[in-house]
Amino acid sequence: MKTIVITGASSGIGKSTAELFSKKGWNVAATMRNLEKAAQFKNFSNIRCYPMDVCDIKSVENCIHQVISDFGKIDVLLNNAGVYETSPFEKTTMESVDQLINTNIYGIIHSTKILIPHFRENKSGMIVNISSIAGRATFPFQSVYHLTKWAVEAFSESLRYELENMNIRIKTFSPSSVKTNLWSKLNKHVGDMYPKEYRDNFTNWFSYLQRNIQKGVLPEHEALAIYKAVCDKKNILRYSSDFNTKLATFLHNILPVNMFQRFIRYQI
Ligand SMILES: NC(=O)c1ccc[n+]([C@@H]2O[C@H](COP(=O)([O-])OP(=O)(O)OC[C@H]3O[C@@H](n4cnc5c(N)ncnc54)[C@H](OP(=O)(O)O)[C@@H]3O)[C@@H](O)[C@H]2O)c1
Repeated sequence: MKTIVITGASSGIGKSTAELFSKKGWNVAATMRNLEKAAQFKNFSNIRCYPMDVCDIKSVENCIHQVISDFGKIDVLLNNAGVYETSPFEKTTMESVDQLINTNIYGIIHSTKILIPHFRENKSGMIVNISSIAGRATFPFQSVYHLTKWAVEAFSESLRYELENMNIRIKTFSPSSVKTNLWSKLNKHVGDMYPKEYRDNFTNWFSYLQRNIQKGVLPEHEALAIYKAVCDKKNILRYSSDFNTKLATFLHNILPVNMFQRFIRYQI
């Protein structure tokens, strides 16, 4: 029986992916900051919950070592935990910048660093990093989120050179727009909060974002796409279930930046 460790499994994509892997017969180590949320998995006998705050390397280390001691071996690490923020950069608080960087970048660095020796000794393993359309293209008013997801993409691409000859595979997965708690703290009255120079553009962006979230898919949809990416034997780095992600990535790759940004402004 294979074992997967999932970070941020308390809700959204992480929770649905934990449930799906469990139904497919995997051992699932569902890690979360708050173990009270473990109760939601009580009907899944092969999901075991562990405390882990991805921002705290000691907590990550304790958790990973406990999972190895419980299951003997880890086959896949799904780095899923993440946070989101949208605001003009000028008005983004340093607290929010720290939270984005600590969770979305350091979170992945901590778990990867701690698991690589185990994978190297086993001469096998897979790390799937949850990225985003925001890691392959750009939109306004989420510059720090972009910073973190572009970092995830570059980190994953570079690591792949190093780990390929040890049979450790690296993949990134960019979800569609998914209806999850990620969006729950978005302020609904943002228009008035910012200096007048930002207001119209931010209001347009914010309603574009909300329209996309409303059209979003359920996390179960992404769980299936992640399962397929994990089981896929092909040597592919980047996976996405989303047409818009593929289109934006393609356009970002081929268009001069002025033209790409004109296209995005037109969409918004
Ligand atoms: N939803 C989308 O449309 C979308 C699109 C592209 C990419 N993504 C990416 O998908 C991933 C999952 O997000 P989601 O949409 O499923 O949102 P979500 O429901 O809010 O899930 C995020 C998870 O991350 C956890 N988390 C946050 N900070 C953490 C920390 N310091 N330590 C451990 N866990 C932490 C949360 O735990 P708590 O319950 O403790 O807060 C939660 O379980 C993220 O990386 C996100 O960037 C989502």
